[in-house]
Amino acid sequence: MELQFFQKDIDEQGFELLYLPVLEDINAIKAWISFLGYEDEKELFGRLQKEKFSGKAGQLFVIHSQDLAVVLAGCGAKEKFSQENWRELTAYLVKFLKTYQVNKVALIAKTWLKGTSDISLLAKTIAESWHLTNYSFNQYKKSDTDKIELVVIDLGIELELGKKRDFKTAWEQGLLFASSTILARDLVNEPASIMTPSFLAETALKISKANPQIKAKILDKEQVEKLGMGAFLGIDQGSEEPLKFIHLIYQPKTKAKEKIALVGKGITFDSGGLNIKVGDGMTDMKIDMAGAATVLGVFSVLTDLKIKAEVHGIIAACENMPSGKAIKPGDVVKNMQGKSIEIGNTDAEGRVTLADALAYAQKQKVDTIVDLATLTGACIVALGSSYAALYVNQENLAKDLLKAANTSGEKIWRMPLAPEYKELNKSNVADVRNIASARGGGSITAALFLQEFIVGDTAWAHLDIAGPAYAEKPLNAYTPIGGVGFGVRTLLEWLSLK
Ligand code: BES
Ligand code: ZN
Ligand code: ZN
Repeated sequence: MELQFFQKDIDEQGFELLYLPVLEDINAIKAWISFLGYEDEKELFGRLQKEKFSGKAGQLFVIHSQDLAVVLAGCGAKEKFSQENWRELTAYLVKFLKTYQVNKVALIAKTWLKGTSDISLLAKTIAESWHLTNYSFNQYKKSDTDKIELVVIDLGIELELGKKRDFKTAWEQGLLFASSTILARDLVNEPASIMTPSFLAETALKISKANPQIKAKILDKEQVEKLGMGAFLGIDQGSEEPLKFIHLIYQPKTKAKEKIALVGKGITFDSGGLNIKVGDGMTDMKIDMAGAATVLGVFSVLTDLKIKAEVHGIIAACENMPSGKAIKPGDVVKNMQGKSIEIGNTDAEGRVTLADALAYAQKQKVDTIVDLATLTGACIVALGSSYAALYVNQENLAKDLLKAANTSGEKIWRMPLAPEYKELNKSNVADVRNIASARGGGSITAALFLQEFIVGDTAWAHLDIAGPAYAEKPLNAYTPIGGVGFGVRTLLEWLSLK
C-alpha cells in the first residue's frame, strides 16, 4: 500500500472512498453533508434520523455514490476524544474495507484532529492500528474462509504540503510498532510443538543477524550448569526439549546513558509439571512464553527506532513437563546467586526460572530491569483479562511505565509490593518457597518472590501479563483473538523516551 498526499479537490484525485471522522454533534454532521454537496441532501438527513446516526463512537454512516463513497465515522464527544479513538477509527475503517473492497481510499488529516494538531502522533497511530487490525494467524489453515484481504493500493491523505515528511516518518514508526507487536503475536500463537526453546533461540539469532547492533548469546544446558542456574535447571529437568538461555545485547550508535534489561518468562509449554494442570487449565498454556515473545518483538525494532539506551534481552526458555525426571514438590534448588528455593508446587515454575534470569540480568550491571511474565492465574482473578499488573520498586520507573502505557493504549494497573505479605513466601527448609502459605493475593506474593532476587539498588519493574497476553475474545477493535503482543508497544514508547 502506498501513501499519497494531496492538498485539495478530492473529487479530482480518483479516490473511491472517503473516510470522515465526525464528532457527536448532529449540526456539525449535517454541515459536513451539506459541504459535500449532495443533490438529495434532505433524503440523507432523513436517513441520518432513521439510522439513528448521531456520531457516537463506533457508528458508521455510509453514503454510496457512483464515484466517491463517503463514510462518516462517529467519534463520540470531543471531551472524551483521545489517541485510542484514532486506533478504533482506523480499526473500523479496516474492517469496513474488508467488506467494501476498494483500491483507493482517502482521509482528510484535519478531520481526525479533534482538539490536537499532532500530525506525527496521528500518522503513527493510524499506521499502527491499520496493521494490527489487519493481522490474522492462519498459517495452519488450508483455506481461511474468514480471511478477506484488503485490496487498498493507495491511501490518500489530504495534508498541508509542509507536513508531508513528518507524516511519512511517523507512519514508518507506526509500522515498526505494529510489526514488532505482530512478531510477538505470531510467536505466542505458534503451537508449543513448534515454539520450543530452540525456536525462541533461533528467532533471537535471526534478529541478531538482521541487526549488526544486536549480539546474541545462546547458552545450552552445560553452560547454564556452569553458571549455577539450579533454579532454571530444576524446572527444565522433566522435559525432553533442550533448554536455551537467550541473551540479546543491543548497543546504540552513541554511548548509552542507561543500561536496561528486559526479561521475559519463556516457558514454551506449562503443563504444571508433576502438579499437573487439571480440567481445561492446560489448554492455552502454549502462551506461557508471551513475556519472551514481547522481549523478542521489542528487539526486532530497536535498531530502526534508534533507541538510545543499551538494552539486554534475557530469556530462560524451557518447558514445564511431568516425567520420571521432573522436579518434585518438596525439592530444593539454588539459583545462581546461591539462594535456595523450596518447590512447594511445580506449577509455580515461572518465578523459579525468573529467579535465575533476574540474577543473570543483574550480573550484566544494568540500571533498570523490566520483566514480563504470564505469571499467575491470580492476576486474572484480580484484574481480569484486559489489565496487566505492574509492580515496581522505584517511583520514577512506575511513573514512566504508566505514562508509556497511557500512550500505547495498553492497560496496566499498579499493584503493591506489600511488605506485610513477604513472610507468606517463607520456607521451613530453604531461603524462600515458590508458593505462598495463604490463598489470597497470589499475583502479589509471586511478585514478592521475584523481589527476593533483586539485590542492591537496581530499579526493577515486574509486569504480570497473564490476563492480556492472550485474547480469548477480541481485546479491542485492533486486537483479534489470540496472541496480543502485549507490552511491546508500551516498552517501545518507554525506551523511545530514553
Ligand atoms: N503460567 C501459569 C499462570 C497462568 C495462568 C498464565 C493462566 C496465563 C493464564 C503459572 O505458571 C501458574 O501455573 N501459576 C499458578 C501458581 C500457583 C501454583 C501458585 C496459578 O496461577 O495457578
Ligand atoms: Zn505453572
Ligand atoms: Zn507458567
